[in-house]
Amino acid sequence: MTDRAQKQYAAMRGHFHRAAEQHGFTLDPAQELPVERLSRLAGELAHPAWRLRRTPRHLYLWGPVGRGKSWLVNTFLDGLPTPRKRRLHFHDFFRRLHEGVAHHADSRTTGGAAVDRAVDELLGDCRILVFDEFHAHDAGDAMLVARLLHTLLDRRVTLITTSNYPPDGLMPDPLYHHLLEPTIRLIEERMDVLDVSGPVDFRQRSRPDDAHGFALGARLHPGDETPAGLTPPRPSEAGAVVAHHRELPARAVRDDHVWFGFQELCEGRTSFTDYLAVADRFPTIVLDAVPPLTDASPDGRRRFANLVDVCCDRDIRLILIGADPLAGLPTGSTLMRDLDRTASRLALLRRPAREAAAH
Ligand SMILES: Nc1ncnc2c1ncn2[C@@H]1O[C@H](COP(=O)(O)OP(=O)(O)OP(=O)(O)O)[C@@H](O)[C@H]1O
Ligand SMILES: [Mg+2]
Repeated sequence: MTDRAQKQYAAMRGHFHRAAEQHGFTLDPAQELPVERLSRLAGELAHPAWRLRRTPRHLYLWGPVGRGKSWLVNTFLDGLPTPRKRRLHFHDFFRRLHEGVAHHADSRTTGGAAVDRAVDELLGDCRILVFDEFHAHDAGDAMLVARLLHTLLDRRVTLITTSNYPPDGLMPDPLYHHLLEPTIRLIEERMDVLDVSGPVDFRQRSRPDDAHGFALGARLHPGDETPAGLTPPRPSEAGAVVAHHRELPARAVRDDHVWFGFQELCEGRTSFTDYLAVADRFPTIVLDAVPPLTDASPDGRRRFANLVDVCCDRDIRLILIGADPLAGLPTGSTLMRDLDRTASRLALLRRPAREAAAH
């Protein structure tokens, strides 16, 4: 390692330890190797791309929920002195990619070339691209992931992903798994795979004041104030929010928050990209009339889980009003895909709610 690389490596290690200290924790033993590996990557990036013989290797961090994977990659990005870095949510990337491809297709650029141009525009001059929450569940995902990796891995950008699945556990459904096998082999060949499977889901340990801004209120009665001090919407406040190419009916649209009903937001034909659009605009989202998820439709449950993911990822305050969504859903229930992800995130709101109820 050159002096310059050594300096940046040491600075990144120090940055990780300081960041943990500021949050009031110490690194978990399962985080030591990723910290070392990410710090080495920071060292490699101390040199301009043209000085390197090859692009630094891609990284794939995986582990169960709440092990600090997103924290590791976000802390790494924060500490990286270059502005040539980008963090994109997996679904967000596809949203932008589709828009870019549609734009270039309109301008008569053909198929693969349109994808290439859209990727180039999305990446700009970035050297590090972080994809948080990488996964694949159906045939459509398999195609997108394959295309994404083929397009990205040969560019001069280092890709870092986090996932709840080891590469060979991606696409867990045995009906579809074989569709992803070539991509899994590509990941195993081209990315360094790091296991971040410590024993603890840190979200279960977080103190109420760490809560991600989630809050869970009881069922509302007319004239009640919600626990977050919000006033329930009057009928005259009903409106619509323009999301991703569609209008979402809202019970109230206010300056700093929007108020939706579960039925309209999660049981209507909405998608992840709509939630991203709402999250771009409002720092707080209220979801009213939340049923136990056992009473929601399978699509309603999936959309709710996506909404929770978006809010957690974007630091959006999500206020749920209604029933405990997880009531009657035991850990390990197969009623909902990735239930443990949603349960881990909801633990952030369940705890203060219980304490509030005790007072
Ligand atoms: N070593 C640690 N000790 C205590 N808390 C930690 C530690 N590392 C991270 N955390 C905290 O744990 C919480 C969960 O971390 P994070 O969101 O990064 O988990 P994750 O592995 O990405 O989970 P998921 O797979 O569900 O996305 C965050 O609030 C984070 O600040
Ligand atoms: Mg995460």
